[in-house]
Amino acid sequence: MSGKPKLLVTRLTPPNVEARIARDYDAITNPEDVIWSTAELLSKAEGCDAILCSPTEPMPADVIDRLPDSVKMLATFSVGYDQIDIAAATRRGIKVGNTPDVLDDATADIGMLCLLGAARMAHNATTVLRSGQWKRWEPTGLLGTHVTGKRLGILGMGRIGRALAKRARGFDMEIHYSNRSRLAPELEQGATFHADPEDMLPHCDFISFNCPLTDKTRHFLNAERIEKLPQGAVVVNTARGPVVDDKAVIAALKSGRIAAAGLDVFEDEPNFNRAYLDLPNTFLLPHIGSATVETRDAMGFLCLDNLDAFFAGRPLPAAVN
Ligand code: DGY
Repeated sequence: MSGKPKLLVTRLTPPNVEARIARDYDAITNPEDVIWSTAELLSKAEGCDAILCSPTEPMPADVIDRLPDSVKMLATFSVGYDQIDIAAATRRGIKVGNTPDVLDDATADIGMLCLLGAARMAHNATTVLRSGQWKRWEPTGLLGTHVTGKRLGILGMGRIGRALAKRARGFDMEIHYSNRSRLAPELEQGATFHADPEDMLPHCDFISFNCPLTDKTRHFLNAERIEKLPQGAVVVNTARGPVVDDKAVIAALKSGRIAAAGLDVFEDEPNFNRAYLDLPNTFLLPHIGSATVETRDAMGFLCLDNLDAFFAGRPLPAAVN
């Protein structure tokens, strides 16, 4: 290839990442950070060699099939790639790279924040304080769920799941997990493995989702499975919103079958189910798992490492297909 590769960058990235993009690529960027329609994206992609995209640009098969022939690689600014039809990309010979590992700690921190925020009714407590309803200390007021010594079930014990387990052990939680395969003892660190996630549910005083969104995990936490959780379990989701069935979770939060939920991700973001807002026992965040300056820089750099490797004919540091 003569000259710099032509890159379409769908979202505004952090300044250090934008600087490297400008240095190394002939780039079409998005300084206003508007969300492009699929039609706009396809038209801007004309003549581009690659796209640095993100979870806000759905790439199902019919979009992949309409990408210009010039596009040979998609580098997603995310570890999750459920928004991209990987089989369709592979069929078209389009390489896909993602950003694993660099966001494990930031996301696990938010997992722990959601766990504690839900357990201790942080939203309700801050609302009472900020709205002037705090009249006095009460022996029976704003009681949450105790964390120490409780059982935490983690669905998806990849690097983020393990980073959460490490943090939860610091709170003396007993770790259970379910994963495609059992981990080696040095990674398992004494956690109890459940080959079938259904079998883990009765052991989950707390359940955290740290799995990718797949056909198997979509709406995993439905009404039937909620019934298998201990009474008053706490639900944490920092993975992908559709892993839980919102209607079932909201009904269980209303009835008290689930004591509380700490959610950083939602189905159909940002148009999430507004019924969550009316519930005092929810602790809700707007998908900020990886949102630290350091992590977003590292994610952007890994996207560019993937692209650089592709254009240099080297293996990608983080290849999906
Ligand atoms: C990821 O990297 O997958 C984060 O959830 C952002 O989408």
